[in-house]
Amino acid sequence: MIEKTETTPTIKELVALSGLRHIAFIMDGNGRWATAKHLSREAGHKAGADVFKKIVRYCKSIGIECCTVYAFSTENWNRPKPEVEAIMGLLEKYAVEADAEKDISFHFIGDKTPLSSSMREKLEKLERTTADRPYILNIALNYGGRAEIVNAVNKILADGKTEVTEADISAALYTGHCPDPDLVVRTGKELRISNFLLWQSAYTEYYFSEKMWPEMTADDIDEAVRSFAGRKRRWGGLDKA
Ligand code: FPP
Repeated sequence: MIEKTETTPTIKELVALSGLRHIAFIMDGNGRWATAKHLSREAGHKAGADVFKKIVRYCKSIGIECCTVYAFSTENWNRPKPEVEAIMGLLEKYAVEADAEKDISFHFIGDKTPLSSSMREKLEKLERTTADRPYILNIALNYGGRAEIVNAVNKILADGKTEVTEADISAALYTGHCPDPDLVVRTGKELRISNFLLWQSAYTEYYFSEKMWPEMTADDIDEAVRSFAGRKRRWGGLDKA
């Protein structure tokens, strides 16, 4: 006789069973987290960068194939210069250290043209040297979803096409190398998309956390995965019988 046992699936099993391949993060709340602790906003971004590294490693460890993070939007240039410089400094430093992150293939998505040439060189070198690795990490930098779509359409027109399909646009986006996000997680208590992955998130599930980004832990990711795994994705159709 076969004995039946009921076991709760592990997070890794839930990731596989639910088909969760790509998680994207809107890492909001660094500033408020810092202010509440009487720290500078720059210190908040430093704490945010440390948490980002842990979360990316954790997502990889539970079988997620691709992560995307919103590090700097096209609108973030409007912030005070010291804050912009602090975020750029963190990204530039990370671009140098990140080669040591095992198995990660780095992609900086967004318009790199306004960045300093030394920063661009570092980002592009990291992209080149890690291109063959299996796990994808997209870092959105000087990124805006509308600008990305306009850029994609212009690329297609420059290739001489006169009629454009959805597949053409998907392929010409900065994220043409990876599947659309299954889940977008936003921290910081705000309930909006903020120009992030507009085209790619047509059928994405959203998870909003009350936590500020620097407070995020592996347990919070588990919670988001459980929430995702409990949802029915219908892609505009009906439930399967
Ligand atoms: C939003 O929080 C966060 C940003 C605009 C920057 C996010 C950047 C990082 C986490 C560091 C990036 C570095 C690496 C290495 C990826 P906010 O400042 O708008 O927070 P607030 O809403 O509380 O003011």
